Amino acid sequence: MTVQIIVGAQWGDEGKGKITDILAENMDLVVRYQGGNNAGHTVVVGDTTFKLHLIPSGVLYATCTCVIGNGVVLDPEVLFKEMDTLAAQGVTVSPDRFKISSIAHVILPFHKILDSKQESDRLENKIGTTGRGIGPCYTDKISRQGVRVIDLINKDRLGTLIKQRNWPVVLNRPDLNIEAIIDEFHALGQRLAPFMVDASLYINSAIDSGKRIILEGAQGTMLDVDHGTYPYVTSSNPISGGACIGTGIGPHKIHSVFGVAKAYVTRVGEGPFPTELHDEMGEQLRHRGAEYGTTTNRPRRCGWLDLVGLRYAVRVNGITEICLTKLDVLDDCDTIKVCVAYTTPDGRRLTELPLDYEEFAACVPVYETLPGWKQDISHITDYTALPETAKAYAAYVSEKINVPITLISVGSRRHQTIQLLRPPVI
Ligand code: GDP
Ligand code: IMO
Ligand code: MG
Repeated sequence: MTVQIIVGAQWGDEGKGKITDILAENMDLVVRYQGGNNAGHTVVVGDTTFKLHLIPSGVLYATCTCVIGNGVVLDPEVLFKEMDTLAAQGVTVSPDRFKISSIAHVILPFHKILDSKQESDRLENKIGTTGRGIGPCYTDKISRQGVRVIDLINKDRLGTLIKQRNWPVVLNRPDLNIEAIIDEFHALGQRLAPFMVDASLYINSAIDSGKRIILEGAQGTMLDVDHGTYPYVTSSNPISGGACIGTGIGPHKIHSVFGVAKAYVTRVGEGPFPTELHDEMGEQLRHRGAEYGTTTNRPRRCGWLDLVGLRYAVRVNGITEICLTKLDVLDDCDTIKVCVAYTTPDGRRLTELPLDYEEFAACVPVYETLPGWKQDISHITDYTALPETAKAYAAYVSEKINVPITLISVGSRRHQTIQLLRPPVI
């Protein structure tokens, strides 16, 4: 029995989908614990590219059961579209191997309207949300005004919950046809019913019967609503602590926390990003890494690896091993910079991440420069075959954050993965 958390160690898009897919080959269960269809996970298998937003990245193995935990916010229409797309690609998602927590919250059309409205109302502090209604849905959950999956199948209760929220007034949209939306979501609830389970009970039973389980995080540490660069964050807890809440299992059941980090850093949307590159190098990383959002297709902001940020991620998640992804994207670099500290405008040197976002935004990275390898490593599958300078880069990162690197990814395909010795589980 193993329970492993996979968590993004940066600002999302670290390649969690690819890594979850690789590890899922030997897993019985993959559970999403937070976020919604703001996530976009690209998994490439052979000539087929799968884009997953809600369905856990274990879905491509018929042997793996996927679960949407209570911590996820679910847009039913998006879910059914994703299921249809997968079916067209030859992957059937049936209730025998796909389960949805009956107490996950539901994204309603009102949440999406409010997300756009809040974003356009913001003046200088736009977040650059994905516009999927994530923030307003979690807001309703926390303020106890939300609609859960289980509420959809009870039309009276659903009607009361939606009507008492008074959306036409809140949104200044008297044209909204509330009755039609209640009908629509009640019908969606009927379609969801075969998938609904008590996910906590289901997952804990699986643990007790010795199953191997991944708890799959979306987004990343620096987008965590508590520990990220607030307010430039998402509205959930992507960090490992969120996994227990978002699934209903106890912390002592967790064996390892697998942090996924790119060999450089990207960010989509607004907010501080000290190592961001606005020059030719940033453009090169974007181009080589195909850094365009899976969900919104926005160009991702690119920069050098930030070890202060990565050490922070190790701390707040309790990361026990790291997967370093997209190392191949650095193939062309003569030299590679790595941020080891920050200096502040008043001349202080910081080795820990400042919690105030304005102070963080004003930080200037202190870089160390390492040699590049100037060769294609995307075909390499054995660590010893990597160029010495690539090995030195990985070893340097591992030493600076004091966590072993157990996987290195050198391309989007499954075989473009280098397995290193795994550390013992905690
Ligand atoms: P996620 O949100 O963390 O799952 O990451 P995304 O799927 O949004 O973004 C990662 C992108 O990089 C995807 O297009 C992957 O196919 C791709 N990718 C993953 N690992 C590698 C790698 O090692 N090298 C390269 N070049 N691409 C990778
Ligand atoms: P995956 O799982 C990268 C960012 C948005 C925005 C902020 C808030 O693919 O790594 P939201 O719509 O969540 O309210 O937007 O969070 N964001 C992501 N950035 N990867 C993601 O998911 C993201 N999900 C949200 O760009 O800055
Ligand atoms: Mg993504």
